[in-house]
Amino acid sequence: MLPTFVRATPDGSERGQFLALDLGGTNFRVLHVRVQKDGQETDSKICAIPQEMMQGPGEQLFDHIAACLGDFIMAQNLKEQSLPLGFTFSFPCEQKEIDKSILIRWTKGFNCSGVEGQDVVKLLKEAVHRRRDYDIGPVAMVNDTVGTMMSCGYKDQRCEIGMIIGTGTNACYMEEMRNVQRVEGNDGRMCINTEWGGFGDDGYLDDIRTEFDVEVDRTSINAGVHIFEKMISGMYLGEIVRLLLLRLAADGLLFDGRTSEVLRRPSSFPTKFMSDMEEKDTGQENTQNILTELGLNWDPVDVRVVRLVCATVSSRSAHLCAAALATVADRIRANRGLDHLKITVGVDGTVYRKHPTFSQRLQAMVRLLAPQCDISFLVSEDGSGKGAAMVTAVSQRLALQSRLLEDSDSDEEQQQKLYH
Ligand code: GLC
Repeated sequence: MLPTFVRATPDGSERGQFLALDLGGTNFRVLHVRVQKDGQETDSKICAIPQEMMQGPGEQLFDHIAACLGDFIMAQNLKEQSLPLGFTFSFPCEQKEIDKSILIRWTKGFNCSGVEGQDVVKLLKEAVHRRRDYDIGPVAMVNDTVGTMMSCGYKDQRCEIGMIIGTGTNACYMEEMRNVQRVEGNDGRMCINTEWGGFGDDGYLDDIRTEFDVEVDRTSINAGVHIFEKMISGMYLGEIVRLLLLRLAADGLLFDGRTSEVLRRPSSFPTKFMSDMEEKDTGQENTQNILTELGLNWDPVDVRVVRLVCATVSSRSAHLCAAALATVADRIRANRGLDHLKITVGVDGTVYRKHPTFSQRLQAMVRLLAPQCDISFLVSEDGSGKGAAMVTAVSQRLALQSRLLEDSDSDEEQQQKLYH
């Protein structure tokens, strides 16, 4: 449960020009967002992060980010402007302020040295300054869940939960300040990053973990942490299925007891295969093609069993997410002392978006588990990078509003002095 220092969702009155960076999913994106009266305009560019850089020295990673940002700023003709920048950084961070955020640990295949325990905003600024050819304005750092909530919140003001089910999984929500012990003050609300992917790291999920979950964790680059995420998200689901297929074959229940060299290779069954196999109309044929591609000898019963394995693993994932989401929504309802809560969840992530049945299964289960909450789901159209720009926009609006309030307070003081 990490406070994010985001104290309000958009109210539609935000305006301005912002830069945004989005790091932590499958791609790294740079954006230029113009928030205007009649909507937003965005230009963006995707930059690749080579695999070796994901596990190399941190300085190299930040230099690469600063170089991509620099190229983009030049191409957009923004060199002279030092625009405010929203930075979506989708890893667990101990946020000290909106522009100070310490990386607790890497997740999802990243493992750059020299970054854990450091302020990521500082590392970004230092990399920009090393270049000396452009500068950036104030930085607001957010998790991708927060970015998603904020970008959906611009369209739907009931959006007070952000959820990601993609390479990793996580959610954030608006909590009452009186319950946020780590930050001073009792008034208003603050967005909390739950980092629910780390649920179970203390052994709480041991009763429902299978031998396949244990194996996926053991062979991952961050064994022992993010246990819930490893049962749910896109980076791991395919691997769970692969291990299950190997076990069923070893028990003589699939492929006549035989496997293939390809299937025995770790990561040879990406999560995308599950989506292809579970497709309603084309699933059977897709399954046959994939099994052939994997070098397996199959018969029609094998095809049915493999599809059933995929459906079991993806339903379990959807149901686990639903349980977590229902808990968060019901907490918001209880916090506000309501019998009934109407709320919107801003969602993003490849698993939620691309898997043929995942979103229906999740929604049906949430309805069952949180009957006092009426939850709508809004898929983020713009990705969380744009939401980071919205965080910057909202904090500028709040600063302006509090300045106006102070000004009007001091006007009142002046008038009182005049009268007495
Ligand atoms: C991982 C990260 C978390 C992020 C999620 C979704 O769980 O730790 O910060 O929000 O992935 O990208």
